[in-house]
Amino acid sequence: MSKITSDKIKPVRKAVIPVAGWGTRFLPATKAMPKEMLPIVDTPTIQYIVEEAVSSGIEQICLVTSHTKKAIEDHFDRTLELEALLEAGGKTEYLKQIRDIADMVEIVSVRQKVAKGLGHAVLCAKSFVGDEPFAVLLGDDVVYNDGTPCLKQLIDVYNDKGGTVLGVQTVAHENICKYGCVDGDKIGDRLYTVHDMIEKPKPEDAPTDVGVLGRYVITPEIFEKLENTTPGAGGEIQLTDALKALAAEQDMYAYDFVGRRYDVGDRLGFLEATVEYALRRDDLKDDFKAYLKNILTK
Ligand code: UTP
Repeated sequence: MSKITSDKIKPVRKAVIPVAGWGTRFLPATKAMPKEMLPIVDTPTIQYIVEEAVSSGIEQICLVTSHTKKAIEDHFDRTLELEALLEAGGKTEYLKQIRDIADMVEIVSVRQKVAKGLGHAVLCAKSFVGDEPFAVLLGDDVVYNDGTPCLKQLIDVYNDKGGTVLGVQTVAHENICKYGCVDGDKIGDRLYTVHDMIEKPKPEDAPTDVGVLGRYVITPEIFEKLENTTPGAGGEIQLTDALKALAAEQDMYAYDFVGRRYDVGDRLGFLEATVEYALRRDDLKDDFKAYLKNILTK
């Protein structure tokens, strides 16, 4: 196994955020609107994810989009008419807010012309990434952490060890069939080495309950693996299959990150995110808590 030595460790500057999926679990809302634009309180899901990337030190982001996802690109662009309106109305706080979104980070987009799976979406960003380690954040997975952002935790492991790092948590045994499952050895407090991976196994076939939850730091050798990956589970080109091939050649790690993760592309996950984010907001929490108490006692 070719070990990544410290002289090969390059800074993680780029992130890829795939947002080209159809969001079928959230129909009909996602018929004409990207699920990544679903608001958690008043902020689109994708904005929380971009903010996590930026606060983890990412300098350039590539959104992997499709023709139905234009609203996401627009959200991170300037809106001169709206800015003029807010300026004329003296609404300086809103004005700052919307300008800050556009100025946050350099964002480019590439099109995934056919939604052929997460692995294929990552492959679409090959020219953007080049020969560097890069982060992948799934466009519908939000992780709340008021300390070190989830992606920064993975980057810290990469900087220490080299090699691809998967963000994982232990999930309920019956739910492992929703995730990529990691087979490995625990080598530290929150750290595993990865020997093998299985995409969405039946609970009885899963070697562990350690699931991959939407955050990755990946070495560029993944692209060669993705190019040679044939469609797997669900007829899609699975990132898990390419990672499995990479793990056979390079050291790979899984890090049990600290943070509360929400699958916003799932109805219950979206509701949980909405309620918990509202309860963390100083401007809403008291009234919202009183409202919840009131309806729950009825
Ligand atoms: P999901 O599997 O959660 O997205 O992929 P999906 O396919 O849109 O969801 P459902 O199952 O139909 O409800 C995780 C992330 O990868 C992106 C999605 O947009 C999502 O942010 N993705 C998925 C792509 O960019 N391209 C694909 O071909 C598939």
